[in-house]
Amino acid sequence: MTDTGTSGRTSLHGFWSSRLAFILAVTGSAVGLGNIWRFPYIAGENGGGAFVIVYLLAIVIVGLPIMMSEVLIGRRGRRNPVSTMRLLGEEESGAANWKYVGVLGVGAGIVILSFYSVIAGWAVAYVIESAGNAFEDATAASVEQVFNALASNPVRTGLWHTLFLVATAFVIARGVERGIERAVRVMMPALIVLLLVLLGYSVVEGAFAQGVQFMFEPRFEELTRDGLMEALGHAFFTLSVGMGAVMAYGAYLPGDASIMKMSVAVVVADTAIALIAALVVFPIVFANGLSPDAGPGLVFQSLPLAFSQMPGGAVISTLLFVLLTFAAWTSAISMMEPATAWCIERLGWSRARAASIVAGITWALSLLTVLSFSTLSDATFLRGTFFDNIDFLSNSILLPLGGLAITIFAGWIMARRSTASELDPEAGTAYRIWRFTARYVTPLAIIAVLLRGVGVI
Ligand code: PFF
Repeated sequence: MTDTGTSGRTSLHGFWSSRLAFILAVTGSAVGLGNIWRFPYIAGENGGGAFVIVYLLAIVIVGLPIMMSEVLIGRRGRRNPVSTMRLLGEEESGAANWKYVGVLGVGAGIVILSFYSVIAGWAVAYVIESAGNAFEDATAASVEQVFNALASNPVRTGLWHTLFLVATAFVIARGVERGIERAVRVMMPALIVLLLVLLGYSVVEGAFAQGVQFMFEPRFEELTRDGLMEALGHAFFTLSVGMGAVMAYGAYLPGDASIMKMSVAVVVADTAIALIAALVVFPIVFANGLSPDAGPGLVFQSLPLAFSQMPGGAVISTLLFVLLTFAAWTSAISMMEPATAWCIERLGWSRARAASIVAGITWALSLLTVLSFSTLSDATFLRGTFFDNIDFLSNSILLPLGGLAITIFAGWIMARRSTASELDPEAGTAYRIWRFTARYVTPLAIIAVLLRGVGVI
């Protein structure tokens, strides 16, 4: 295997040991709270099948081409996203300022992780709650109470999310092959097994037909302007694109692996897992007469309630939250890697020091999210609480803007021979489709949704 590839540069952090390791790592990044916690509830709120259609379109015409662009840029630059964008910006167009796209990405990673780790901390807490049978004979009021007792208690939430951030930093500190790769090799297969067990349970015990109907029957009247933006934002979020996480992972990819094939594999896996997660959630929700549009509490409130009334519910509910924790962990790792790689390369820090300091900064910022569910829950502005705003800002604004810059860079600024030599030296049909999409379709789609989101069209 030639490690360096066509650019001749080598990674400073080592390489993935195989293609499978890369696919597992990027799928680990992509599959997370976005698939299991967020996708079902936003689909529920925004017209079910109508949302799914727009989301799938966004995945194909925006998410996939950008994922390919990020991996190719990452592999060509072989540095952290900031240095890679500066290096390639200079090489391709003499403009070092492209580095700001990397800066935006590294910053977005920390911002996203700051709220992501809080929700992930809930998942960890729920593993313990479920295993301790906290949901036995639950009622709607009692699950709500368990949830509120956790979310509205900054000390408890704070402890769990601190634990989660420490665990994330620990894996990052061990490095690419010994840390990230080892973690995903164990967690990703476990996640798939857990998900299939849950799916089996939902098929047998849930109102499966009703769940399928809800997911796939398009109710376009429920899809608002905001819903459209959510679908685009979610396509970015769920694939982890638009902020350099995939770019950072691409930097460790051996030179002879096919970026196109691997990106397609990751996108298919991520989408399949999101749809399966929804097919786990909704049949159980309907079987128990619960409301499908319960918002962020869907997974944390509706499901424990449902499980409490089903045979083997405590075990299944524990498994669900283990699944959620693993999925969140492998994603959080990828949010922390770009900033960590930057500190190592730019400031000469050790990996352990870089990971600890990045985690510390993220932790400080995340206190705002912790408080937005408790002490500051009444302090609303613009879209609601601090959490509502930061969630919207990162997914629906920062990631699409980052993605727009990345697709313009790969499609317009990079020379055809540079992108072709990374993606497909023969420049076959698949390459031509990618280039046309990355140059025209993807940027126009992003701009159209952003303009519609702010009400211009
Ligand atoms: N893709 C992750 C999820 O669906 O939960 C979230 C995510 C990970 C977003 C990494 C951005 C990122 F860089």
